[in-house]
This record gives sequence, C-alpha cells and structure tokens, in this order.
Amino acid sequence: MIILADCSTRMRSIVSFYFCYLLCLCLGIACVVFVSIWNSQWRGGFAWDGSALQFNWHPVLMVTGLVVLYGNGAVLYRIPLTWGQNKLPWKLLHAGVMLLALLCSILGLCAVFDFHHTNSTPNLYSLHSWIGICTTALFTTQWVMGLAGFLLPWSPMSFRKLLKPAHVWMGGCILILSIVSCISGINEKLFFALKGTTNGTMPYGNLPPEALVANSLGVLIVAFGLVVLKILSNQKWQRPEPQSEDLGYSPLLQDDS
Ligand code: HEM
Repeated sequence: MIILADCSTRMRSIVSFYFCYLLCLCLGIACVVFVSIWNSQWRGGFAWDGSALQFNWHPVLMVTGLVVLYGNGAVLYRIPLTWGQNKLPWKLLHAGVMLLALLCSILGLCAVFDFHHTNSTPNLYSLHSWIGICTTALFTTQWVMGLAGFLLPWSPMSFRKLLKPAHVWMGGCILILSIVSCISGINEKLFFALKGTTNGTMPYGNLPPEALVANSLGVLIVAFGLVVLKILSNQKWQRPEPQSEDLGYSPLLQDDS
C-alpha cells in the first residue's frame, strides 16, 4: 500500500516535471520567434555591415543564446528520462549547449560593439550595457570553471565537491541577470526607436504594434525564466546521485558531480 502511494507520488512529480519542461520549450521557441519577428518586420531585418541592420543581430543572438539556449542547457540534468543513464553524455551535452549559448552571446556583443564603433557611438555608457557585460563575463567564467572542474580529468574530487553548489547557485544568478539585461535592453531600444513624429514612428506611449510585440517578448522572457527557475529549485526534480554511476568512464568522470 505504502509502495503504491509512493509510486503514484513519484508519477505525479514526473508528470508535473514534463508539464513544466514542455512549457519551458514552448516559451523558449516563442521568445526566439518574437525577437526575430520584431527585428525583421519592424527594424528592417539583418545585415553585417555596421548599419542598424547589424545591430538587429544583437537582441536576436542575446535572447537565443543567453536566455533560451542557456535556460534549456541548465535544466538538462533534471529530465527524469536521463536519470537511469550514464552522466557523461549529458555532461557533454550540457557543456555543448552552454558553449553554443556563449558563442551566440559573444557574437551578439560583437554585433553591437561593431555597430557602435562604425557609428562612433560611445561604448558601455548605459545601465543595460553594464549589467549585460557583467552577465556575459560571469557566464564565461562559469563555463571555464565548469569545464576545468567537472570535465577535465585532473580536477580533484574535493574541488568538484566545493565547486558544485557554487556552480548551481551562480547558474541561477546568471539566468536572472540575463533576463534583467534583456528587459532593460528591450525597454531602451523601444525608447530609442519609437520617438513619434521625429523619426516617422508612432510614439511608444501610443503602444504601436511594434511596442506590443516587443513588450510581449519581455513578458515571454520573464515567464521562460520563471519556469526554468521553478524547475531548478524543485528538490524532487534533482538527478539522484548514486555513488559510482560514472566509474566506468574514469578518469573523465570520476564522480557524480
Ligand atoms: C542577455 C542579454 C543582453 C546582454 C548581455 C546585452 C549586453 C549589451 C552590451 C554589453 C551592450 C553595450 C555595447 C557597447 O557599449 O558597445 C549592449 C548594448 C545595447 N543593447 Fe544589449 N544586451 C542584451 C540584450 C539586449 C536586448 C534583448 C536588447 C533589445 C533590443 C538590447 C538592446 C541594446 C541596445 C539598444 C544597446 C545600445 C545602447 C547601449 O549601449 O545601451 N540588448 N547590450
């Protein structure tokens, strides 16, 4: 009787995980669709020539990299389907998705720095850019430390044990900072772009369709972040850590961290 009750509690937990995970995937796709539509339909599309069209890569790559890919990479270990399997392929996938996220965000930063350079606009003057550059620097550090601590064979077990809680905590912080960067960036862009009659657009205050789409993008990013943080914070959805699951792959995976 107790075993049956235990089984049904676990089933309910797994079903609610997959519901959250599906929501996370759908919101992630919606974020990429909205940021792409905004920049292609209302901001003129994309180019890499120092023009405003080059700037448009910035939001698309930052949202795709530092929010959507990053968030999906962060919840990979929580997928119950992967729990019975060796951790090595999932570690490599986690590192790979995070690397892709990092490359997207570096390219996204190149787009805006190069655009500023071509147009003699000063760098790093806004609150958005300060938070944004710190977020990317933290993410780079986190990725390098993750590689050194969890994937390289010479990393001692004591270092892994010390690093793991810090890595998990910092991972959540980076996601929150990415969302803050995106929200501030969207807001700043709308204030720059929707000036009303001076540049032939409707003023932001009138909530033109562009503002509606960009504001909705902000809401979607926040919703995505909340779902990812919900998945990360639920203790029941943490990968169970058996003592010697990875021993077969020693020394790359000496531990289960
Ligand atoms: C995680 C996401 C993001 C990060 C880390 C980030 C980071 C940055 C950085 C470091 C700069 C300064 C570039 C320079 O000084 O040359 C910048 C500029 C800018 N970003 Fe973002 N950004 C993010 C997302 C966004 C989004 C979604 C938008 C929406 C359109 C946006 C809009 C802008 C604008 C308008 C500028 C130029 C003005 C300024 O320097 O503040 N950003 N961003």
